[in-house]
Parts: sequence; C-alpha cells; structure tokens
Amino acid sequence: MEQEILKARYTQQEITRKYNWIAPIYDLFGVLMESKYRQRALEIAAIRNGEKVLEVALGTGLNFVEILKRNPNGWVDGVDVSMKMVAKARNKICKTGQRNYTLHLCDCRHLPFEDEAFDVVMNQYLLDILPVEDFIPILLEFKRVLKGGGRIVLVNMTKGERWLNQIYEGIYRLKPPLLAGCRGVMAQPFLKKIGFDQFQREFVSQLGFPSEVVRGMKRNGSG
Ligand SMILES: C[S@@+](CC[C@H](N)C(=O)[O-])C[C@H]1O[C@@H](n2cnc3c(N)ncnc32)[C@H](O)[C@@H]1O
Repeated sequence: MEQEILKARYTQQEITRKYNWIAPIYDLFGVLMESKYRQRALEIAAIRNGEKVLEVALGTGLNFVEILKRNPNGWVDGVDVSMKMVAKARNKICKTGQRNYTLHLCDCRHLPFEDEAFDVVMNQYLLDILPVEDFIPILLEFKRVLKGGGRIVLVNMTKGERWLNQIYEGIYRLKPPLLAGCRGVMAQPFLKKIGFDQFQREFVSQLGFPSEVVRGMKRNGSG
C-alpha cells in the first residue's frame, strides 16, 4: 500500500458540522466538479432493476435519485451522518414520487443493516475526507452488508498525474478554510487487502479535479 495519503484535516465531529453548514450550497460543487464521475460510477455499477442497493454518504441525494430511476422495482437505502444533507436529499428524492427507499441518519462505521443485505454498495467522496486509519474498518463494514458476489463502487478524489490535477491537493496543503477538505486517495489497495477482487478502476478529471471510480466484487463465502 505504497501511497502517500495526507493527514485528514477534520475530526468526524468537525466533518459533520461542516456538511451541515455547507448543505445549502453543496450541489454547486457536486454538479460542477463531480457530475462526470457520478455518471461513470452509475454505468460501472450497472444496477439492475429489482436489486437491493445501499448508498453510503448519500449527501444531498444527487446520486441517490439516479439509483432510484434505474431501480423502480428494487429497494434503495441511503445513509449519511449530516442532518442537513439528509434533509436536502429527502426534498430532492420526494420529487421522484418513488417510495422504495429509506434514508438513515447514522455514521457509516456502524451500518444499521444485517449481514449480506445488499447486491450493490455505492459510496462517493467519503474516504477522501476521513482519516486513513478508518479506511479498513469502514470498508469492512461495507463488505459485511454486501452479499457474496455483490459489487462495491467507490468514487474518491484521487492522485493526479498532471500539474492541473495536482492543484487541488496543493490547495488542500494550504488549508483554505472554505473547502471541505478532501485529498487524493487510491481505494483499490485497501479493497484488495480485505479480499475484494475483479477490480475495475478509471481516472477522469473534471475542471482538473482528479477522481477515481473503483469497482470491486465480494467473493462468495468470503465473510
Ligand atoms: C463530499 S460529500 C459527498 C456527498 C455525496 N456522496 C456526493 O457525492 O455528492 C461527503 C458526505 O459524507 C457524509 N459523511 C461524512 N462522514 C460520514 C460518516 N462517518 N458516515 C456517513 N456519512 C458521512 C457527509 O455528511 C457528506 O454528506
């Protein structure tokens, strides 16, 4: 696992407070910097109508409404720790008219679901704000609720190879008070360490912002 991951900027308490504060304007960043990746993640997840899907850290629901659209006869659960983000998501999701979902206000370190409950677990732009020592316990929790043969699809800010992509991590090092505090990570080695396989990883930049989409599969009978 030879990658330099910068120290997380905020504690969980500060992160929750920050997203409560940023919720009213979050969609601006979400659409400008991240829409291309969201689209790609949905293609890679290849959700089939009728599946059970979990989105962790659903934020304002930008991705959640897209999952629902693709899964009118299935079930979708969403989890987030920020009350204000969940409230924004709820408003957006209500407008779809669909009823096949539940939103949960909770920390993803302890998901309120049975083992092997989901066909797909999606999570976007969360690991890149959390302390690196939390990655494995959190990913193990995602794995616990995923069925054998199920797929995990993660999107993160990642390391950029070109100077334009490196600007964002440069800004992170400068500690500007306004940005939410994400830095580049590569999730695949962590997933590999806990037994996921059949990886697919793509890198795309949007306005120079470097993100990765990583898909892994949980082996049947791997706990
Ligand atoms: C950068 S936003 C991404 C939101 C959404 N996934 C998207 O792509 O638009 C990070 C989200 O993670 C949520 N979050 C932070 N820590 C969390 C935790 N421990 N458990 C669940 N959600 C968390 C925040 O409240 C926020 O909504």
